[in-house]
Amino acid sequence: MTARIDQLWPEPMDDLGDDELIADLAAPPGPWLRVNFVSSVDGAATTAGVSGEAVSGGLGDAADKRLFELLRRVSDVVMVGAGTVRAEGYGALRVSDDSARWRQKRGLAAHPVFAIVSGSLDLDASSTIFSDAPVPPVIITTARASAERLARFDGLADVIVAGTDALDVRLALAGLHERGLLHVLNEGGPSLFGSLIAADAVDELCLTLAARLEAGDAPRIAHGPVEAPANLALTRVLKHESTLLLRYGRAVTAG
Ligand SMILES: NC(=O)c1ccc[n+]([C@@H]2O[C@H](COP(=O)([O-])OP(=O)(O)OC[C@H]3O[C@@H](n4cnc5c(N)ncnc54)[C@H](OP(=O)(O)O)[C@@H]3O)[C@@H](O)[C@H]2O)c1
Repeated sequence: MTARIDQLWPEPMDDLGDDELIADLAAPPGPWLRVNFVSSVDGAATTAGVSGEAVSGGLGDAADKRLFELLRRVSDVVMVGAGTVRAEGYGALRVSDDSARWRQKRGLAAHPVFAIVSGSLDLDASSTIFSDAPVPPVIITTARASAERLARFDGLADVIVAGTDALDVRLALAGLHERGLLHVLNEGGPSLFGSLIAADAVDELCLTLAARLEAGDAPRIAHGPVEAPANLALTRVLKHESTLLLRYGRAVTAG
């Protein structure tokens, strides 16, 4: 059964259908970076999974999963940090049949492109991420990446070199845009989000606030070597049971 999602704000609307959720998710023309995270009320970005490993999956409910899929549906590319790919055991990126049909009707590729950010290239080239990919994934790395590791992905992935020593997320995004991948959905994790905040690259944040208190030492949704405060403006509040599905844009500064 589809998880019911109501809108609380800006105006109340009951039981939104996929089309109503999507209509409001259409990004403006041109490059756009949307970030999607789930957090507990006390700020944890992970919870212990079945295996005891800290992952985000246990925080998200059926409504979060519904929105997660719809966000992918409207994106050209899904960008994820290698830490998240390793921790969450990502496989090939495929949207649902409904999403694929929706995309094809609009002249889009059936599936968005999967882009993985990794400096070390400590990625398994035999993973289904590559072998089952409906479209070749993109690997975003630096000029310091080992040639031997890079060679493992020959013919499996398109490589963007974004920076010499350190990875420059602005160059990474520019590389995606050059490939016609303008609407970028970032699904984390916290290190990559921290770099995107520091580069002032984030246009929109979708944040699911799970009605849980985790305590412990779980990471927050963003961290990084520099503090890079950014003011946000709330643009939408959705609700499913006790879960809030929040959306923020950039705060408009006076002047
Ligand atoms: N709550 C949520 O919604 C949510 C979402 C996503 C992830 N998570 C959780 O977050 C945890 C993973 O955290 P994380 O911080 O390790 O995730 P991450 O940001 O996905 O991964 C960090 C890794 O990605 C690469 N990377 C990211 N930004 C980079 C940059 N600016 N320059 C160079 N390389 C960069 C590096 O890979 P290499 O090591 O290969 O160089 C780095 O070690 C997992 O437990 C996951 O479950 C939670």
